[in-house]
Amino acid sequence: MKKLIFIFALFAATLSGYAQILTSPDGNLTMSFSLSSAGEPLYQLSYKGKDVIMPSKLGLKLKDTTWLTSGFTIKDNKLSSFNETWKPVWGEVSQISNHYNEMLVTLEQTIQKRFMKIRFRLFNDGLGFRYEFDRQPELSYFQVLDECTEFALTGDHKAFWIPGDYDTNEYFYTTTKLSEINADIVDGSGIGTHGYFAKNAVQSPLMMKTSDGLYINIFEAALLDYSAMNLLVDQKNFVLTSSLVPDAYGTKVYMQTPHNSPWRTVIVSDNAADILSSKTILNLNEPCKIENTDFIKPQKFVGIWWGMHVPDHWSWNYSDTPNLKLKNADWNALKPYGRHGATTENVKRYIDFAAANGIQGVLVEGWNIGWEDWAGNWKEEVFDFVTPYPDFDVKGLHAYAASKGVKLIMHHETSASATNYERRIDKAIEFMKENGYDAVKTGYVGWIIPRGERHDGQWMVNHYQRVIEKMAANRIMIDQHEPVRPTGQHRTYPNLMACEAARGNEFNAWSVGNPPEHETILPFTRLMGGPMDYTPGVFEIKMDYYKAGNTCQVHTTLAKQLALYVTMYSPLQMAADLVENYEKKMDAFQFIKDVAVDWDDTRYLEAEMKMPASQL
Ligand code: NOJ
Ligand code: CA
Repeated sequence: MKKLIFIFALFAATLSGYAQILTSPDGNLTMSFSLSSAGEPLYQLSYKGKDVIMPSKLGLKLKDTTWLTSGFTIKDNKLSSFNETWKPVWGEVSQISNHYNEMLVTLEQTIQKRFMKIRFRLFNDGLGFRYEFDRQPELSYFQVLDECTEFALTGDHKAFWIPGDYDTNEYFYTTTKLSEINADIVDGSGIGTHGYFAKNAVQSPLMMKTSDGLYINIFEAALLDYSAMNLLVDQKNFVLTSSLVPDAYGTKVYMQTPHNSPWRTVIVSDNAADILSSKTILNLNEPCKIENTDFIKPQKFVGIWWGMHVPDHWSWNYSDTPNLKLKNADWNALKPYGRHGATTENVKRYIDFAAANGIQGVLVEGWNIGWEDWAGNWKEEVFDFVTPYPDFDVKGLHAYAASKGVKLIMHHETSASATNYERRIDKAIEFMKENGYDAVKTGYVGWIIPRGERHDGQWMVNHYQRVIEKMAANRIMIDQHEPVRPTGQHRTYPNLMACEAARGNEFNAWSVGNPPEHETILPFTRLMGGPMDYTPGVFEIKMDYYKAGNTCQVHTTLAKQLALYVTMYSPLQMAADLVENYEKKMDAFQFIKDVAVDWDDTRYLEAEMKMPASQL
């Protein structure tokens, strides 16, 4: 027995003392794992012989108990390989190769008798790894104070970043060196709920370019039952450290084993186009869980929408009576004030245009009661999601749309009251079913209710997921606005067609807008996790067209608005402008009619994140 123990101890010491090496299937990427003398887990990554990530620590800080950061020995280390090809329900390609080599390290904190696994997967274009906790006697319930995953970079890379924030990702991108990141220089005006939590924090995905031409993207995949990852930047040593979104108690994640973290990802190449074609984020998500996906229909749509964002045109609200309470107001007695967009007449015009031009969907916002008093007051009950305004004939419009082969798209603005939405969602879905809707756009404008929760925290991550799954169970496609940024879970739930989760075209209508380079950076950042409902296709770009003297504008050309249909792939793609603006330029609209929303193959000829001349 003694001999056996001795042999095991020798084996464990061997595992701990030496780096365990893993290479990608094509041999371009190499990672190694080891323990420091204090038993801290360390990993590093190189690409074609160049360092990408220098030795970096891994672990979690726990509340009221020993942290999972040191004191580890290696119990086991398993290597394996995987290679399959799978078919997505929709997307930019019809087949996806999922090919990686894996290392599964089992660590033990010997004194505490606790176990933590780290699973590394090395693909040809990047690394994914996550923490895994099996059910175990000495680690059952625990609270995470923070995750301390490090990404030690090799220098002061150029970074394409938005400030670290718990409640919004609607900033435009800034390009600076890592050492120059400073959230103070970013204009957050126009964003409903914003407040960066540290000047040197940025959100993931973070895109970087090194001085010797490497493109590095740091992100996460399969963000489920966990809070989103921001990155704190050490501006002297260029070490990024994960920083999770807390709740009101400062707790970042509540865990009960078995529980895994999301995957942390480092995608790397010497060619920017490879970052765009990477399927690593998707591959790290679970296969499709929807049995019958025949209700999922990639499509284009127009909408009663842009007219509310441009100055002095339409409104969501029916009347201009302020301070209405959902339960007490006599909604039918309200007087229309003349600018309501979602009228039966307007919607019919949009249905006609859609039908005439092969567009399948018409989104209608402002169709339901509650918009008179919806934003800014942190109100629990704003919308009921089932009562139309008197001038919106829901049944008549559905019959009309059906007769023309068009579908209306539902809108559920929750005003960030997730509790109210969860209480009412079953009735809201019943209403959708009764009236022929099979797609919904959700929205979360405002500070979250339950108060103290954050848009990107664990509670809301679970809320968004519950809604996606409920919609899937009811055969409904979904487009989320103001959610946490997606991390590839549309592989598992392909009814999640698109998300906003970034600064969309709408900001051009009423704020300083989106600098032209913003749309060249989005594909390398926000779109890494899934399609964006950017709402392209604005032809009438100057807001003084609607209101004399208004200086807002879409920072674009007409050709660029069309190009966005190719560079910002979405299977639920809007033609955002007013139909009368399209009717004036039907030659250009022909491109929107023709462009696909579900492709068999995609070739990236060339790609680059464009920077403004001042930041080159
Ligand atoms: C913000 C969304 O991004 C926008 O598309 C929507 O029109 C408004 N909220 C109202 O829900
Ligand atoms: Ca928005």
